[in-house]
Amino acid sequence: MKIDILVIGSGIAGMMAAIEAKELGSSVAIVMKKSPLANNSFMAKGGINAALNNMGDGDSIEHHIEDTLKSGVGLAEEEAVRIFCEQAPQVVRELHRRFKVPFTTLPDGRLAQRPFGGTKYKRTCYAADATGPAIMKALNKALNELNITIIKNHFAINLLVNDKKIAGATFLDEKTNELKIIQAKSVIIATGGYAGLYKGYTTNVSDATGDGIAMGLRAGLEGMDMEFVQFHPTGLKGSNYLISEAARAEGGKLINSDGKEFVDELNTRDFVARAILKQIQKGKEVYLDLTDIPEEIINTKLINLKKRVKSLKGIDITKEPIPINPLAHYTMGGIKTDTYGFTDIEGLFYAGEAGNNGVNGANRLGGNSLSEGAVFGKLTGYNAVKYSHRNKEYLEINKDYLEKDKELIEYLKNKKIDAKEMKHQLGEILYNKVGIIRNGYTLKKALNKIFELKKFDINENDSNLIEKLEIINSLDIAEALTKAALSREESRGAHFRLDYPESDHAFLHHTLTKIN
Ligand code: FUM
Repeated sequence: MKIDILVIGSGIAGMMAAIEAKELGSSVAIVMKKSPLANNSFMAKGGINAALNNMGDGDSIEHHIEDTLKSGVGLAEEEAVRIFCEQAPQVVRELHRRFKVPFTTLPDGRLAQRPFGGTKYKRTCYAADATGPAIMKALNKALNELNITIIKNHFAINLLVNDKKIAGATFLDEKTNELKIIQAKSVIIATGGYAGLYKGYTTNVSDATGDGIAMGLRAGLEGMDMEFVQFHPTGLKGSNYLISEAARAEGGKLINSDGKEFVDELNTRDFVARAILKQIQKGKEVYLDLTDIPEEIINTKLINLKKRVKSLKGIDITKEPIPINPLAHYTMGGIKTDTYGFTDIEGLFYAGEAGNNGVNGANRLGGNSLSEGAVFGKLTGYNAVKYSHRNKEYLEINKDYLEKDKELIEYLKNKKIDAKEMKHQLGEILYNKVGIIRNGYTLKKALNKIFELKKFDINENDSNLIEKLEIINSLDIAEALTKAALSREESRGAHFRLDYPESDHAFLHHTLTKIN
């Protein structure tokens, strides 16, 4: 297959990129591992940030810029932050007016906004507590209406590069186990982040294995700030269910098993997650107490949370506090790009959580991820089209790359790999050794264990080909993440090292990590 613009990944960044490129007149295919609504954008519940100042509290684009830079603790890039904050209002209005996302509105029809952590302004627009599903369903409808080619159940394996220019990518068709090639003039990777590697300790969909990042690393690109993993303070204990920050925004309190409050609930996530972990390490349970929130608010703004916690744990959130613990939720690290998503491979762009243009720095502000994905997804769609207009020819595919992928598939077919068990082991290693609080000793141990897992010599059971490819990607990323965490000998944002508990000006720069 040949296409002008190939988008890999079906979250908000991928869909916005595909829609933009199609509307500019290009032929576009969007390829996804599963289906359009099976991704982390769909799982994002609490809201989407844009400085609209609809609540009359004096919010402005400048305040959004200040909060985003502050949350990034010196590593957020001002140019990317400025473009993001300036464009977020128009992108959110477009989602509402044009794509008909059913956002919650004020009596006068303007979008309602709620407070989220890390700011004193009510900046987060929402659709009750199901914002991600509302947006993703609307964008999926637009993809279909625009006749964008949607290719489901195809796993992207490797990038095809010709003399530092993109030529396309290889895929495994999940149904037939066939290796396929898609040639393209431009490729946009929007496959999401790698918080899913913390198996058993993550809010992410089970297949959030950072595949596009691993493809970039294998193609020789650099991972930027891979050490920064955001732990969401409030995962429902004993599950992967995310209790949205919206619950704290509506008045929920964090208390310990002595009934004591111990942290400002709406501080930044890195700070709140560490405060909770410290309570847990002291042997306390931690709860989110919503019992003082009026039932009418719960029934209108937190209704999905109420139903879900009841069905998962039998808890009535209007009467009992909810047991919680922090879960890996989002990764600030990704393939290094410039502000606009360009990489060191011509014609290859990254957007959303898979790429890193520095917009989040060391810690993303809650509520920024959906708007960031939308803003930069759209921008990369535009830039990819412009690139394809200047580079009209499809580049030749290097046969050696194809042979390598064919050999890889044959190897994986014949090699017993218990990918499920390996993912579980990797989750334990990362959570315990590369978690909320790290130190040099545990990081080195983690790296050794990752290298041991990479030998694939402990497998008794077998897994399917996709799971095997995912574990290869997961291990490549885990290596980059752990190496980056080892190299940052300080604490900053979401990266806290017990052996270097202070921030150090000498490390006021991005880490760049390669594998192999
Ligand atoms: O808490 C939440 O609803 C998550 C939002 C986000 O990650 O931005």
